[in-house]
Formats: sequence, structure tokens, C-alpha cells
Amino acid sequence: MQLGGPSWNLVFGRRDSTTASLSAANSNIPAPTLNLSGLISSFSNQGFTTNEMVALSGSHTIGQARCTTFRNRIYNENNINSSFATSIQANCPSSGGDNNLSPLDVVSPTSFDNAYFSNLLNQNGLLHSDQELFNGGSTDAQVRTYSSNAATFSTDFANAMIKMSNLNPLTGSSGEVRTNCRRTN
Ligand code: HEM
Repeated sequence: MQLGGPSWNLVFGRRDSTTASLSAANSNIPAPTLNLSGLISSFSNQGFTTNEMVALSGSHTIGQARCTTFRNRIYNENNINSSFATSIQANCPSSGGDNNLSPLDVVSPTSFDNAYFSNLLNQNGLLHSDQELFNGGSTDAQVRTYSSNAATFSTDFANAMIKMSNLNPLTGSSGEVRTNCRRTN
């Protein structure tokens, strides 16, 4: 599928782990229930600035999330557009349907653009954590900037992705260079 969006150059030959740890993933990957300060700390723990955290979050311009990750938001939160909440509720009942999917970007779910940020301005963020980036706090200004300037978002996103690709890579004989990036050799 062609999603459009920014591109960037990566260094070849990054070594990946041959094993995975559910508990390590769960303790390092930010939860959608986090508030802004929790999100900032979670990214700061990996060496990212708050600005880089906001830029990387723009990845939610594509992809989908399961009902269980946003149910509380669409039924119980106040900083959500009411017609948006009602439309999402149709496919995410208050009980059951935990794995039903909704797009993270309601406007253009298959285009890599800056609509994720204009959605936040309209209180159309799907995840609690998404809307935290525009909820009267320190990151509001950057969300506004990205919502009106797609080129700035693209540049910042690409730079932050390059930085992420260089976080703690395995070296020497640890891990392996994958022949298919989706699976171990
Ligand atoms: C800011 C903190 C973040 C939180 C709390 C978060 C949370 C989530 C959650 C809960 C989902 C849905 C998963 C599911 O239902 O199984 C999701 C999907 C996704 N996230 Fe994030 N995420 C964050 C940051 C990021 C970053 C930094 C990236 C990449 C640069 C990213 C890329 C994606 C993509 C592409 C999907 C869709 C996956 C698909 O459709 O299969 N997210 N995220």
C-alpha cells in the first residue's frame, strides 16, 4: 500500500535481537492510558526530547487500534468531540468487541499526512494518550505548528526516526542482521 509521507536514509546492517521479551516490551512501551507527563518521561527514558515525542506520535496518522485501548476514552472522557465519540462507539461497544478496530486518524487513515495533529485540535484524538498532546499543556503549541505545517512535521519526524534507529543497537556478535526485517533469520 502507498501511504505517502516522508522518507529518510538509514545505515544498513543494524543488528536485531533474535529473541523477544513480553515483560521488557510492556515495561518500556508507553501505555495509551498515560498522561502527558508520563509520556514525556517514557520517551525521555530513551533519550528523546518532548519535541521528538510529539513528532514521533504523528505516526498515528496511519494504522488502527483495538477497542480495548480506547474504550474508556470514548465512553467516559470529556475532552472528546461528541459526534466523533458516538461514531466510534458504533464499532466499540461498552462491553465486548475488544478486538474491533478503529483508525487512529479518522480523517485520512491510509495517508501519511499531518491530519493526526488537526484531529487533536478538534478533540478527535482516538487514544487518551493522543489527546494528551493537545489538552492545555506544554505540547499544545507544537501540535498547532504541525497541524498547519506539514513540511515541518515531515522533517522533524524523519530526524526523530533516524535517531530511534540508532538507539542502543546490538554490536559485535550479538543478535543478527536480518535478511527479512519482519522475522529472525
Ligand atoms: C506516544 C506514545 C505512544 C502510545 C501510548 C502508543 C499507543 C498505541 C496503541 C495503544 C496502539 C494500538 C495497538 C493495538 O490496538 O494493539 C498503537 C498503534 C500504532 N502505533 Fe503507537 N503509540 C505511541 C507512539 C508511537 C510511535 C512513536 C510510533 C512510531 C513512530 C507508533 C506507531 C504506531 C502505529 C503505526 C500503529 C498502528 C499499528 C497497526 O495498525 O497495526 N506509535 N499505538
